[in-house]
Amino acid sequence: MAGRKFLLGEIERALENGPGDPALSSILVGARGTGKTALLSHLSSKAQQTGWISVDVPCLPGMLQDILEQTRRKAREFLDERDQKHITGLTVGQIIGVEWSEDVPPSQNWRSAMTDLLEVLNAKGIGLYVTIDEIDPALDEMIQFAAIYQLFVREGRKVGLLMAGLPYKVSSLLRDESVSFLRRSSQYKVGRIDDEEIASAFKATVEIGGSTILDEVLERAVKEIDGFPFMMQLVGFRSWEERSASNDITMESVERGTYMAQRDMRNRILRPTLDELSDMDIKFLLAMLEDEDSSLSEEIAMRLNKTASYVTTYRKRLLDQGVIEMQGRARVRIALPGVREYLSEYLA
Ligand SMILES: Nc1ncnc2c1ncn2[C@@H]1O[C@H](COP(=O)(O)OP(=O)(O)OP(=O)(O)O)[C@@H](O)[C@H]1O
Ligand SMILES: [Mg+2]
Repeated sequence: MAGRKFLLGEIERALENGPGDPALSSILVGARGTGKTALLSHLSSKAQQTGWISVDVPCLPGMLQDILEQTRRKAREFLDERDQKHITGLTVGQIIGVEWSEDVPPSQNWRSAMTDLLEVLNAKGIGLYVTIDEIDPALDEMIQFAAIYQLFVREGRKVGLLMAGLPYKVSSLLRDESVSFLRRSSQYKVGRIDDEEIASAFKATVEIGGSTILDEVLERAVKEIDGFPFMMQLVGFRSWEERSASNDITMESVERGTYMAQRDMRNRILRPTLDELSDMDIKFLLAMLEDEDSSLSEEIAMRLNKTASYVTTYRKRLLDQGVIEMQGRARVRIALPGVREYLSEYLA
């Protein structure tokens, strides 16, 4: 994971510390392709290595049942595996019988079924870490989960929560009064990665794969990646596929790799992102293109013949979508690489 040292450090420390550490309930916020899902997977397996069982779910209908079933299955595997070393003859599943039985009495609701499991796990010092991807504030089960999770925290149970979502979905979830406690969870913006971090992770990955890359070739790859995590994956993968007969990543590998990576980027990130924008959002973006790097709101307003407060609404929407980002206090710049080049093709 290139360039995520701080965030990983905070959350890994929380997994070590357990209940009470603020980063144990965290939300990762970022635009498409910034590496949210990759971080969830990474931290979920970290949790699994440090005394937690972790269950990973997307924010979709059936989510609560999915959490319950995964918890039950993983708890059984984990406890059986761990305690069989100490208990001969009987497995933990048999000892605590009823908690593991597949058929929960129909009268038992989700909260009490989960409470039973948590009691068994917590008694053995094992926590439950839940990761939820693609946060959707419109899903009732998300709200229900958050409300019950809060109760588990208040009851002092060893539980942790890591959520990830697009900026506008997360901000809309946090506006929901019934889950206002989520506003106090730690929020991490997942965005661009510094060029130096990209360069060292890229080089290390090439070398682990048994290949080599010259400095000027690496520089070119880093320039094309432009700090965008998904582009690191795309340029890396495509250049790797194009490596020379002598197994090196050459300038030609990177050039051809980049060409294909840009096509993937347009289809998988830029088009779906632009599809979600309104006409006025797009006009705002087009007005930004007149500036080479970053833009001032007042100037955008003048170009569009609107008041400054009118354009603020659209600026906020674009910021929420992760299409643009603040640069300093007053300026904004385009956050997704390739938008500049792709926009006219998209509109046509
Ligand atoms: N820090 C990183 N270091 C190296 N590669 C990364 C990093 N972050 C992301 N990637 C690569 O970028 C790809 C896309 O990331 P990922 O799918 O996690 O993005 P996402 O934020 O979940 O996007 P979406 O909102 O579309 O679901 C990953 O498959 C991974 O290979
Ligand atoms: Mg994702």
